Amino acid sequence: MRSSALLLRALRGSGLASCAAEDAAHKVMPALARAASTSAAATARPAASWASRAASAFGAAAALAGLTTVAAADHEAEHGLDSGAWPWSHSGLLDSYDHASIRRGYQVYKQVCAACHSMQYIHFRDLVGVAYTEEEAKAMAAEEEIMDGPNDEGEMFERPGRLSDPLPAPYANEQAARYANGGAYPPDLSLICAARPNGTNYVFSLLLGYKEPPAGISVREGLHYNPYFPGGAIAMPRMLADGGVEYDDGTPSSSSQQSKDVSTFLAWAAAPEHDERKLVGVKALTVIGIMWCFALYQKRLKWAPLKSRRVVVDVVN
Ligand code: HEC
Repeated sequence: MRSSALLLRALRGSGLASCAAEDAAHKVMPALARAASTSAAATARPAASWASRAASAFGAAAALAGLTTVAAADHEAEHGLDSGAWPWSHSGLLDSYDHASIRRGYQVYKQVCAACHSMQYIHFRDLVGVAYTEEEAKAMAAEEEIMDGPNDEGEMFERPGRLSDPLPAPYANEQAARYANGGAYPPDLSLICAARPNGTNYVFSLLLGYKEPPAGISVREGLHYNPYFPGGAIAMPRMLADGGVEYDDGTPSSSSQQSKDVSTFLAWAAAPEHDERKLVGVKALTVIGIMWCFALYQKRLKWAPLKSRRVVVDVVN
């Protein structure tokens, strides 16, 4: 109790939270004092001082709790709510991506996100063997009109897309993108999962995290409340709605399914080497393990005569 009282004094000294502590002390005090006054007159004085100490302790605890809550709330407001750790099917040591999910995730990107976000580092050819066959990817590319040129007459011209083209960007440049989005820039999504802390979980939580702003928080016109976004107000409205995407494999497209699939797709886009990395890791560890056994055997073989020999020094003869 003494340490709490000291703590309270320290808090008072630093001018921090003294009001909260004293407030609490004043509320608790009369109640405790009333309780004490019902006891015998001889014990009234010690009881009252006990009451004041207890009140200080309660006050300090309340002040500390208040401080930590305020600190946590500050952190969340500035950096966004913790996005958690969702059980991705590719997060285990030996797990590869769920490629059916990458394929669905591309469909979410194409049908929803591509209206505002580019993916300049992903080409149609990158999808081949990952989520689509070569024919499918060629057909998808050919559906796009790509500006190319200049031709022999110095003119730009449009042609059907090829496997070597990047996924088409929705806006010609950053200014056009900002102009269409009220001044906010929809960032390129190729590397977003690597560019944000806890990226895949962040994208998943962000897309589903839209809420009514809590009492006392007002969000500027044109922004939307989302506690996972640093600052809490994001220019992107909620984009995923149940049934808003049509999957070619017939999976029911709830908004959480869409968010999971597009997050897997973006995780793949940011780290396409992931599957190969784990596979090579397993192969390398296996080979190193076998070689280690040989090395151990050889070492023991070479050292055996030295370690087991007996040296006899005969000084007489
Ligand atoms: C109507 C246009 C629009 C669509 C469609 C859209 N976004 Fe956005 N998005 C934006 C804008 C604008 C921002 C910038 C927000 C800001 O800076 O406040 C943004 C930001 C983001 C961010 C970055 C947040 C950060 O930490 O900087 C991610 C991730 C994102 N969008 C993912 C998606 C995904 C995935 C989809 C598809 C499901 C999607 N967006 C669809 C407009 C859009």
